[in-house]
Amino acid sequence: MARKFFVGGNFKMNGTLASLQKLVADLNSAQLSSDSEVVIAPPSLYVLPLKELVRKDVAVGAQNAHIEVSGAFTGEISPKQLHEEGVPWVILGHSERRSLFHESHEIVGKKTKAALDVGLNVILCVGETLQEREAGRTIQVVESQLVAVAKEIKDWSKIVIAYEPVWAIGTGKVATPEQAQEVHKDIRSWIVQNIGETVAESIRVIYGGSVTAANSIELAKQLDIDGFLVGGASLKPEFVDIINSKNKTNKL
Ligand code: PGA
Repeated sequence: MARKFFVGGNFKMNGTLASLQKLVADLNSAQLSSDSEVVIAPPSLYVLPLKELVRKDVAVGAQNAHIEVSGAFTGEISPKQLHEEGVPWVILGHSERRSLFHESHEIVGKKTKAALDVGLNVILCVGETLQEREAGRTIQVVESQLVAVAKEIKDWSKIVIAYEPVWAIGTGKVATPEQAQEVHKDIRSWIVQNIGETVAESIRVIYGGSVTAANSIELAKQLDIDGFLVGGASLKPEFVDIINSKNKTNKL
């Protein structure tokens, strides 16, 4: 079964309502390949207005959600409220959440369960730091992040895994296609062994970390790279080229 190419745009805490409305209007008038599934994740304040504005073949997501669905959690985003408002996706376990907001593997596992329980789809981010890569611990780190999720959930059908090496995020230092492919292949092998072959065959494993229109085609050619999670470049016109990059490969 061919996996549908998936491109997420993580706007992070950038833009104004006006600038993001302009960005979405440009996306609405662009030629987007129907071979790609596209999700944009605006800052939480702008998720609903942009959901109203964006074309129907582009979905919206939040950049984070809490473990609990309601209660005294000042400043948090309820996964249930997202679902009730028709927001289908959430990004969980982004390295900025893990490092700056101290989200442990365990918390990310529990958040993933909470999001799936209310019916959300999850872009689950994993990835190693430079120090961990240099110590030869890349796959060990990624696996421990996946294990924490596997402890909480059984059904992986609404998950897209984003492999995002921390050293490549926002640095302009993209992983080489070979470096990325190696980890994506390891992730898929881990899934074969720990979840099952059918899931391994169908789950999308996307790459994130300094993806641009200049490097997306070579990355997209790799067998186990099923799309991208894009930060900085999702705020630029080249996001359209990244979405369409799979069509410039010979991949089925
Ligand atoms: P970047 O961010 O494309 O700006 O490196 C990727 C991400 O954080 O998802």
